[in-house]
Amino acid sequence: MTLFELVKLALDELYTEGKKEHGELLDDKIKEKISYLSDCYKELVNTKRQPVDYRDPATRFAYVLKYVATHGDYVVQALEELKIANKGTIFQSETARLTCIGGGPGSDVTGVIKYLSENKDEPLKKLTCYLLDGEQSWADTWTEIGDAISSDVAINVNFQPLDVTKPTSWASQKKFLRADLFTFIYFVSEVKSFDNSGVIGDFWEKIFTESDVGTNFLYVDNGHKEFNEFFDSFWRSRKDIQVLYEQDNQWTTPRYSEQSDHLGEYKSRFEQHPKMKSMITIRILKKIQ
Ligand SMILES: C[S@@+](CC[C@H](N)C(=O)[O-])C[C@H]1O[C@@H](n2cnc3c(N)ncnc32)[C@H](O)[C@@H]1O
Repeated sequence: MTLFELVKLALDELYTEGKKEHGELLDDKIKEKISYLSDCYKELVNTKRQPVDYRDPATRFAYVLKYVATHGDYVVQALEELKIANKGTIFQSETARLTCIGGGPGSDVTGVIKYLSENKDEPLKKLTCYLLDGEQSWADTWTEIGDAISSDVAINVNFQPLDVTKPTSWASQKKFLRADLFTFIYFVSEVKSFDNSGVIGDFWEKIFTESDVGTNFLYVDNGHKEFNEFFDSFWRSRKDIQVLYEQDNQWTTPRYSEQSDHLGEYKSRFEQHPKMKSMITIRILKKIQ
């Protein structure tokens, strides 16, 4: 299955949810929300902006249609780099845990699943995923993905609400820290503007300090210097974090095997192509002591 085929499954479900809320007006709503998201993402560096609001199913449909498969493919490309850096496989045993911060829309988890389907030498038989996200309404979109795809790896997806700007939502949570791989995909750019008195730095301090030796961390974002420097400031001076791979601000496209035609009627109905080219920055880190 390609990422676009996986995304089509989620879109079908979101479309049904949207119909219940908007009825005949749904298609117009979705078009409106595609523009809304595009306008929001132009404003990410503006510290006075409002948070992007994903509650409406039309907004979530718009996000999944435009961005999820493409971001998922960037995850696959980054994981290939991690595999090269490891000079072997990414995972070392038959079971592993994945924690996706801001992973509600599913790009991170679908990217990891796609990577596993293409890399049969990985020893994994069972992957437990935690999608941590401030927007609860993402919860239903991907938790059944394990049932929807036939994979050699048993996939179990759990959603946990977590607002990075509210320490009460994460200070006492422990389970998500026990991950073999963390992903932060287009997340830092989304939350940096809301870094009231260093709270986001405190969050990463917890992750880097309390995670296990050997854990990998994957950051992909939109290439903007301000976000890269912000993320880098959390780990560059740490002796327990090593960088395995870094790439700054390169134009990237999904691999040729990913064809957006698999989005079927949605692509023509909304006269929209998914995002197919982006400037991205990648960091792949490892906890070494
Ligand atoms: C641009 S999306 C990125 C999603 C996904 N990782 C991807 O690459 O497609 C940003 C995600 O961060 C979530 N988010 C926004 N503010 C947040 C916060 N304060 N705490 C946790 N998650 C937040 C949103 O709900 C959304 O799912």
